[in-house]
Amino acid sequence: MASLLFLQWCMIYILFGSVAFAQLSDNFYSKSCPQVFSIIEDEVKYAINKEPRMGASLLRLQFHDCGVSGCDASILLDETPTSSSEKSAMINLNSARGFEVIDTIKARLEKACPGVVSCADIITIVARDCVSTLGGPSYTVPLGRRDSTDSHKFKADLLVPVFLAGLHAQIFAFKLKGISKTEFVALTGAHTVGMARCTSYRDHIYDDNNIDPVFAASLQANCPKEGGDNNTTPIDSTTPFVFDNAYFINLMNKKGVLPTDQALYTGEGGPTDAIVANYSSSKDNFFKDFVTAILKFGQLGVLTGTDGEIRTNCRKVNTAN
Ligand code: HEM
Ligand SMILES: *[C@@H]1O[C@H](CO)[C@@H](O)[C@H](O)[C@H]1NC(C)=O
Ligand SMILES: *[C@@H]1O[C@H](CO)[C@@H](O)[C@H](O)[C@H]1NC(C)=O
Repeated sequence: MASLLFLQWCMIYILFGSVAFAQLSDNFYSKSCPQVFSIIEDEVKYAINKEPRMGASLLRLQFHDCGVSGCDASILLDETPTSSSEKSAMINLNSARGFEVIDTIKARLEKACPGVVSCADIITIVARDCVSTLGGPSYTVPLGRRDSTDSHKFKADLLVPVFLAGLHAQIFAFKLKGISKTEFVALTGAHTVGMARCTSYRDHIYDDNNIDPVFAASLQANCPKEGGDNNTTPIDSTTPFVFDNAYFINLMNKKGVLPTDQALYTGEGGPTDAIVANYSSSKDNFFKDFVTAILKFGQLGVLTGTDGEIRTNCRKVNTAN
């Protein structure tokens, strides 16, 4: 047991133990692609209009991109005969979505300004537009990221033990990246939108006691003890497609759907209880900290200058075209 824990913490260190300082700028494309913001906003609004959940799915891509080897669009690469894809890693398989929307955006940008806008910047701008379109805060994103030339399935798979290792390990993992405990909690506030599959919350609604029993029972019909792995339910059961602070209010009421979310509020003086309480009582405080946190998170391990490349197709490295 002790050695298993040690192994988990070593993996966390390998995965998260590098902080790169970004050299990005707000006006990076102002001369080379002035249409970048209008094209992306247009497509994001169209996609959310067509399917409200898409806003959440696209926002999540930024977490899963930046959380694995930095914000380098490595999550967008498809599998090739010689390289595995992060898309098939446990955290993404049958779960990550929205890749077609990114493709549409990239195609329009390649027409407007060929070879200029990186896929990594697209992910970042898309996430920002999802947050504001769903009712969350507006913020300016620094740009100039470049795209990776390889995928990192192995590192993506290391995220699973981090989640399983519990709240303290998660806090530690984020701290290694320069993200504070408060910023970590603010980031999880993204769960104010989107859906989870039964397989992600089954244990929580049958076996845990840190959940309102009536609420747990209400989720059981759509998530039986056996089967129905792919059935989905809103992560924020109150306002699933609005970016607000209802997620934190739910946690205070023991109505968190994901076990990792409810672990952020115990009601017994847990390490993040006060932060959840703060955000549950003030949407403004949540928004303020979320913006700080996602800006920081969006600059982790970025490639700049002549590192990496500007992919012309987000699914493949250029040499493979
Ligand atoms: C320790 C931290 C986190 C854990 C353990 C976690 C875990 C999860 C899980 C299990 C799901 C459900 C996936 C499924 O069942 O298919 C999910 C969904 C989601 N996550 Fe997280 N997450 C974390 C942090 C974040 C962060 C930092 C963000 C964004 C900034 C984020 C954004 C989302 C969104 C928007 C969804 C819904 C996606 C959709 O409906 O397609 N998560 N997360
Ligand atoms: C869940 O959906 C995926 C495709 O999205 C499918 O491959 C898998 O077999 C499904 N699992 C179950 C248990 O239905
Ligand atoms: C609540 O959050 C705000 C915004 O970060 C912060 O200024 C304030 O000190 C926090 N209050 C408490 C009681 O933690």
